[in-house]
Amino acid sequence: MPAKFADATPVSIPLHLVAEDTLDDWLESQTDTKRSWVEANGFSGALGQTLVFPKDDGSISMALAGCGTPATRSRGRFHLAGAAAKLPTGIYHLETVLIHETLMIETLGWLLAAYRFDRYAKAPPMKAELVAPEGVNAELLVALAEGEMLTRDLINTPASDMGPPDLENTARSLAEKHGADISVITGDDLLTQNFPMIHAVGRAADRAPRLIDMRWGSSGKKLTLVGKGVCFDTGGLNIKPGVSMGLMKKDMGGAAAVLGLAHMIMSTGMKVQLRVLIPAVENAISSNAFRPQDILTSRKGLTVEINNTDAEGRLVLADALALADEEKPDQIISMATLTGAARVAVGPDLAPYFSDDPAFVAALEASANKNADPVWRLPFHAPYEPMIEPGIANLDNAPSGGFAGCITAALFLRRFVTDSPYAHFDIYGWQPTAAPARAKGGVGQATRAVFAALETLMTK
Ligand code: BES
Ligand code: ZN
Ligand code: ZN
Repeated sequence: MPAKFADATPVSIPLHLVAEDTLDDWLESQTDTKRSWVEANGFSGALGQTLVFPKDDGSISMALAGCGTPATRSRGRFHLAGAAAKLPTGIYHLETVLIHETLMIETLGWLLAAYRFDRYAKAPPMKAELVAPEGVNAELLVALAEGEMLTRDLINTPASDMGPPDLENTARSLAEKHGADISVITGDDLLTQNFPMIHAVGRAADRAPRLIDMRWGSSGKKLTLVGKGVCFDTGGLNIKPGVSMGLMKKDMGGAAAVLGLAHMIMSTGMKVQLRVLIPAVENAISSNAFRPQDILTSRKGLTVEINNTDAEGRLVLADALALADEEKPDQIISMATLTGAARVAVGPDLAPYFSDDPAFVAALEASANKNADPVWRLPFHAPYEPMIEPGIANLDNAPSGGFAGCITAALFLRRFVTDSPYAHFDIYGWQPTAAPARAKGGVGQATRAVFAALETLMTK
């Protein structure tokens, strides 16, 4: 769905952002009538509160949006979006801007609040539109919002309409839009071209497994993004219980996130040589499914004992990461809905990530705060390496005991990246309850933070 600002118009409605502690000051410059109206309506500046002022003809003369207190603001993000969603129909422009440093992200929130997933049922659009405020880079915000909306659409679309071929088609349209090159290796060609683990995980499904490989940009540092594209995760022969399977259309959330991020990079023309790799499979159940105790030989040559067919994400990513590493890019980043352990550790709001590069960590932590895209660093803790070594093969895809499940998964992935700087994000990709600018459903995580970090790391 398109993200857009309203065209500037002389009749747009002024919107004042007022916090609880700035309300009195603001009221001082207002007429008695306006002060009485504020009082009569009990407007206190509480977070998300709105108030519109009528003209004599019944139309709206101006509006207020409450910005709460530092304490209430610290409990969420995209504060303006919460108010914007409640405002009546009209085109608004910001008049009193409370905090200039957060103007960019609050404006982005307004665009994101307009997101609707309406492919299967009509959803009433947001009523209030915003004229791009002065001082924000409107084109950048539109690119960020479009990338996020692409991610959400891909995750929200059920597996019946978002199988490996559909993910391929989406990547192809994105490539076409931005003049990127794309090639796809499908089905048994995965075997002849040495992607045995992508093939093993995906071969039981009617819709053939594939590896999507997109390239864009001819100068600058080499950046390779790898996204887990498990279009549905039944668990395989180690079938998931119903409650755990219920949300597994989102198991291509990593692929959705890297495609959204790729859109941001390509539409803003970042000076990088971008490569996006997506192993797209369904982890299905059939007589030819891979089994517990099978030993697979990966692209890199490492052998992997399968101790749980539900730990499939690391297998498909391993072959894609090995390919990524072969050309020694300046940075490899993987994003994946990889482990339940990550969700248990930090919940749905934070994106746990792994990186041993102080420059990457510093850039990411700074950009995460600025972009309302929180991340949390977890360690590639080497003393846990023995946990992923089963003895009869080089690696174990599902260590018993379940200790530190997202760390052992990250250590597993790192075995396949030996020649390039590497960061990995174990995202959840799903907003369990609606929040301002984040509808319930698929959601991008860490993409804006990574985008902004890359602007510093890759282009300076
Ligand atoms: N796709 C799941 C991980 C997942 C589950 C992400 C729920 C978000 C929410 C992944 O393929 C999986 O099932 N991982 C197993 C690994 C285990 C068997 C070693 C897990 O985390 O339980
Ligand atoms: Zn799984
Ligand atoms: Zn999975």
